Formats: sequence, structure tokens, C-alpha cells
Amino acid sequence: PNKITSICCIGAGYVGGPTMAVMAQKNPDIKVTVVDLNAQRIADWNDADLTKLPIFEPGLDQVVKEARGRNLFFSTDVETAINEAQMIFISVNTPTKTYGSGKGMAADLKYIELCARQIAKVATTDKIVVEKSTLPVKTAQAIKSILNHTGNGVKFQILSNPEFLAEGTAITDLIDPDRVLIGGDQTPEGKQAIQALVDVYATWVPKAQILTTNIWSSELSKLVANAFLAQRVSSINAISELCEATEANVEEVAKAIGMDSRIGSKFLKASVGFGGSCFQKDILNLVYISKSLGLQETADYWEQVIIMNNHQRDRFANKIVQTLYNTVAGKKIAFLGWAFKKDTNDTREAAAIYVGDRLIDEQANISVYDPKVNAKQMQSDLNYLNTRSEDQNKTYLSTESNPYDAVKDSHAIAVLTEWDEFKTYDWQRIYDSMNKPAFVFDGRNLLDTEALESIGFIVNAIGR
Ligand code: NAD
Ligand code: UDX
Repeated sequence: PNKITSICCIGAGYVGGPTMAVMAQKNPDIKVTVVDLNAQRIADWNDADLTKLPIFEPGLDQVVKEARGRNLFFSTDVETAINEAQMIFISVNTPTKTYGSGKGMAADLKYIELCARQIAKVATTDKIVVEKSTLPVKTAQAIKSILNHTGNGVKFQILSNPEFLAEGTAITDLIDPDRVLIGGDQTPEGKQAIQALVDVYATWVPKAQILTTNIWSSELSKLVANAFLAQRVSSINAISELCEATEANVEEVAKAIGMDSRIGSKFLKASVGFGGSCFQKDILNLVYISKSLGLQETADYWEQVIIMNNHQRDRFANKIVQTLYNTVAGKKIAFLGWAFKKDTNDTREAAAIYVGDRLIDEQANISVYDPKVNAKQMQSDLNYLNTRSEDQNKTYLSTESNPYDAVKDSHAIAVLTEWDEFKTYDWQRIYDSMNKPAFVFDGRNLLDTEALESIGFIVNAIGR
């Protein structure tokens, strides 16, 4: 095929933004335009002040600085960008359905379909359409069907190129990926399209790490990768409960099993439960597909990963209540961290939201400090659960811009995110400002338990 010189990406979110920024940085001769319906988001991507980018990711500002205005553009003019591009990435959100059949389980594909219809409407030249969003296996069939019924003679090739970046490390994951996966039709035209995308990545990713497959394997592999990763977290969290009931220590167990090269040491960190926009959604999606195909045992097997994760969050909240003499009503409980993991401002499905909600049910006053998440976001996360009125949430949940204010006069501190800075605080000063006995519930096994205990804290960690 002709070399790609113009790319459009629909969706300027956590995936579209960083992915296209790196692709543009590494391919100065390709014009990359990222479009979104959300005008505020596009304005933020274009802000001269790089601290105002809509997403916080270490290193992202430098990549944007280098490429933006040179060959990387952010725009709300979706139609022009589609029409100009030879290759169009679809990177819109695919949340869990909140209505109708498959509610609470299936992926909501309405945004994907809208993209396909928009491409079909405006395209006047042949296009390669790339699924970057995480999609149920067989979605390419639906996209193809929409695109092939335009009647204007334009030819489309559909590729699947799922994204494996993790938030907080997006830029290093993109620059040095374990692998890039590209699936496409095994016809001559399909193979040409695959090659065109391989060439885009090959400017910075070693060829051996660019894997090409048929399109269905590629779509399914993304769901499976997330299911396996989440399953490791639920597995170690299940063991953390067993450790708490015995005298085993989950960190020691994780180290002992992780040194087995067949098991491996990564992703064995016991925690208050996994969060993030992907794990739960993608497993539910896998469960839904399995059920739809009549594979009940397979569905049940994977669903257990989510059941265990919900249990881990509940267990953490219950432990706080029980330890504080079975009542937290009217007590101030400080949360360190609200984001679903460190080094991101993303709060989607963060454990903190669920733990906070549970404690507010018990009428606790929650005071939160997170280095990157603002008060408005925290309120909106809690309101989204619809457990009580927005006014009630406002009275029970407050946000501080300084950690020492958040912990002052509290009965307990709960660590919900593993931000590095929490380790460096003046813990004596914190202890002095709290009600006694002063409790710490370390949901991330982040802090030095012995050091805290020698100050006088009563420390509860996961799996010890
Ligand atoms: P996001 O919500 O941050 O971004 C999606 C963007 O798409 C939004 O800004 C939205 O306004 C825009 N959009 C929706 N419909 C549109 C349309 N018709 N035209 C133009 N813009 C439109 O979502 P995200 O986290 O970037 O995730 C995108 C996809 O990537 C999802 O399928 C997700 O599962 C997958 N994914 C996410 C991650 C991650 O870490 N967040 C990692 C790998 C894969
Ligand atoms: C995940 C996948 O890792 C990534 O490949 C995919 O593209 C998107 O989904 P992300 O959700 O951004 O990435 O972060 P990840 O590092 O996977 O963490 C997910 C959650 O699991 C976080 O809440 C994290 O704190 C938790 N976790 C992770 C643990 O509790 N223990 C671990 O050992 C690892």
C-alpha cells in the first residue's frame, strides 16, 4: 500500500491522547489529528500551559510539547479529520451498558457504532479503520457491515489494534511496549492494511515485538489479557484473607511464589481491590460473551474474579468499622488517596469510592487528600453510585488540599492509593494531631508498619 501520511484518531481520552502523541512523536512525517466531541477536552489538549492537559501521565507533557503543532493536532472538527486521513483509529469509550439487555454486563457499543456511521457518511477515499478501543470479539463484523453499506464505492479495511498501556506508566508503556498486536483479515487487501500499520509502529517498536494475527484473535486477546491480570490480583487478595486468618504474611507468600519463574513476581501485590476503567468492565464483557454463547462454567469462572474484588473492598471497609469499636458514626476518617492507582488522576472504579460509600452508610465523615484528584471529581464519583442525595454526600465527604489538614482530628487513616509521597510524611506530626488511639488501615501495604507502631499507631495492613 501507499505509505501512511495522515492519521485521524476519534476519541481524545486516556488512550487516544497519549497513544497518538507518541505515534506522532515517533513519526514526524505523519500528520496525526486527534478529534473529540468534547470541546473542553480538546481545548485542554491545546492549552499552552502543559499542566492543564486533561490527563496526568508522567512524561506526557514533554511528548505533547515536542509534537503538538508540528504533526500532532487536536480538533473538534471530526468530519474534516476523517476525510483527510488514510487511517482512522477509533478510541472512544466502551463502558458497561447501564440499560436494556446485557445491562451491567455487556459493553455499550453505541459510541463505536456512531463512529462507524460517521466514517461511512463522510469518507470519500479508501480508509483503514483501526479498532483501538477494547471491544467484544466479533465487533469488527458489525463495523464492517455498517461501512460496507455506504454505496459510494469507498473501500474499507478493518484492523484490530488493542492498547495495552497501563495508566500512570502510559508513556513508557507506549515507547517500549512488551508487544504491539495487530489483527486483520487474512485476504491480500487485509494483509496490506496490516502491513501499513506495522510500518507505522516499526519506526520505534522492534519488528519481533509486533505480532500480527487474525482479527478475532486480536479482539479476544485484549479481553483475555485484562482478565488474566485482574485474576492475579483477585487470587493474591483471596490469599490475603487467608493470611489474616492465620499467621502467614501475604507479602512473604507473594515473594515465595513469585520467585517460581512459571508464576512470576509481577501483579502479586495484595490491595484493597483493583480499580480502573478496564478490569471490571472487560471481565464483565467476557462473562457476558461466554454466557451468550451458552458457556456457563467459563462465565462463572471469570465472574468470580469480580466477586472476590468486591469482597476485598467490603472487607476493608468492614474491618475499619469493627476495629473502631463497631461504630464510626460522627467520626472523622481520613483517606490518603482517591485515584485508582498512583501517578494518575483517573478515579474510575477506584476502591476509595466504594469504601467511602460504605463508611458513609455508617455515618462516618470522610476527609480526603489526593495529590491529583480534585473535590469536584470525588463528589461526582460518589454521586454516581446513587446511594444517597448529592447534598448528603457533600456533608459526609470533604476534600483537603493538604494531607495534614485531612488527617487532623481523625480517628483513623485509610490508605487507598499507593502514592509515593505518603511514605515521606511527618508521621509523628500526623500522630500528634489525631484522636487516640490512632489507627492506620493500609489498603496498599505502602507504609512502614514497624515505624508507625513505634510512634504509637495501631496499624492494620492487608494480609498480615
Ligand atoms: P475516555 O472516556 O477517556 O475517552 C474516550 C473519548 O471518546 C471521550 O473523550 C469521548 O468524548 C470521546 N468520544 C466518544 N464518542 C465519540 C464520537 N462519536 N466522536 C468523537 N469523540 C467521541 O476512554 P479511554 O479510557 O481512553 O478508553 C477508550 C477505549 O480504550 C475503551 O474501549 C477502553 O476500554 C480502552 N482502553 C483503555 C485503557 C485505559 O487505561 N484507560 C487501556 C487500554 C484500553
Ligand atoms: C490495565 C492493564 O494493566 C493494561 O494493560 C490495560 O491496557 C488497561 O488496564 P490500568 O487499569 O491502567 O491497566 O492499571 P493496572 O496497573 O493494571 O492496575 C489496575 C488496578 O489493579 C489498580 O487499581 C491497581 O492498584 C491494582 N493492582 C495492580 C493491585 O491491586 N495489585 C497488583 O499487583 C497490580
